[in-house]
Amino acid sequence: MKRKWDLKRLIFNISSLVDLGQEVTSSKGFNEKMKTTLYVVTGMFSVPKAALFVYDSNHHRLELLTYKGLREIDGISLYIKARHTKTFNKNEPHNIDEIRNNSFYEHNNNAFKKLRTKTFIPLFAKDEFVGAITLGKRLVRASYLQSEKDVLKVVANQMAITLHNSSLFKKLTAKVSENKGLYENMRHIYHDTIQAFAAAIDAKDAYTKNHSYRVARYAVAIAEELEWKEKDVEGIYVAGLLHDIGKIIIDSKVLNKSEGLSLTEMSEIKRHPHISYDILSKIRFPWKDVAHFVRHHHERVDGKGYPDSLTGTDLSEGMKILALADAFDAMTTDRPYRKKLSLTEALHEVKKCLGTQFDSRISNVFFRVLQKESKGETKEAQILPHLDKDFDPAIIITLLEGIIAELSA
Ligand SMILES: [Fe+2]
Repeated sequence: MKRKWDLKRLIFNISSLVDLGQEVTSSKGFNEKMKTTLYVVTGMFSVPKAALFVYDSNHHRLELLTYKGLREIDGISLYIKARHTKTFNKNEPHNIDEIRNNSFYEHNNNAFKKLRTKTFIPLFAKDEFVGAITLGKRLVRASYLQSEKDVLKVVANQMAITLHNSSLFKKLTAKVSENKGLYENMRHIYHDTIQAFAAAIDAKDAYTKNHSYRVARYAVAIAEELEWKEKDVEGIYVAGLLHDIGKIIIDSKVLNKSEGLSLTEMSEIKRHPHISYDILSKIRFPWKDVAHFVRHHHERVDGKGYPDSLTGTDLSEGMKILALADAFDAMTTDRPYRKKLSLTEALHEVKKCLGTQFDSRISNVFFRVLQKESKGETKEAQILPHLDKDFDPAIIITLLEGIIAELSA
């Protein structure tokens, strides 16, 4: 009879082990997984009260992770010195009487009583102490057979590995978030440096104070309206800030000349997108196409732009955005050779140049952004705040409505 019972028990234990294997490898959340695993163990050995602890080596404590059948033990923890962990047999059940004379027991006397501990199983993954299980009184015989102890050891080993993997995962997650913080920091430094560069470029040309910054903001507004990915938006922002970097090596006298430029001077100025490209293409930016956007910010859709007279599909969306943003800012700010246009005049000018200088689709998007900003429909306006306030929003809204309706007809 006894033999038969043991056989049944053994089959039950083996099937529980299979369940346990499935639990440990399942995709459940870690805490849920450990809770179910503990429940399987308590079922296997007929122990109604049990608790699982995870080791916090920094604070020398075993912290409660999950439990079954116990009351008012939330937040309970066991104090354990590193040297105590060396006194245990790895993953083997210890009768509480075996450790009663140990100072580990003395330190945690009350906790063990609350936990109704009869058996203590220290959990080790390889040689590392990772946690512990406390088991209460069994419903069947009090002690464990050797075969049961063997099974318990296998189970403890599996739980220890799961705990260990989880702590590795946590450490990894902490590392990733630490790296993310560092990356964010570097990004800020990077942005500040680029911003400083842009200010240096604009400082060289007396008429273009903050030009690069405004071009960057306008380009971002268009790219966002086109629902570009965040990283690509960042790329065009940087391209906007640096698009005129090539002007750094062009003679200031030529850049700031108020009378008509000679052909030589004109071609000198026209070198700047190419020089900008030469400088930027040597930098490994984390954003794609920055140097290309910059190189082609003076191209036109009719192929009459420079430096490469690109047209059609050779012009990417980014190039066309930057070209429009740059030209629009040039129109709405004073230049050595002419006074700025009013917003109404500039909008008419953009409209007039659709299909020749500017891409119609990109311009339409630009008009839409301006319309939303004029109506106060955007979270943060990126174009209007940089323009002179000498316009009537109602007139601009009507004008934009007309242009947009005409373009979509
Ligand atoms: Fe330029």
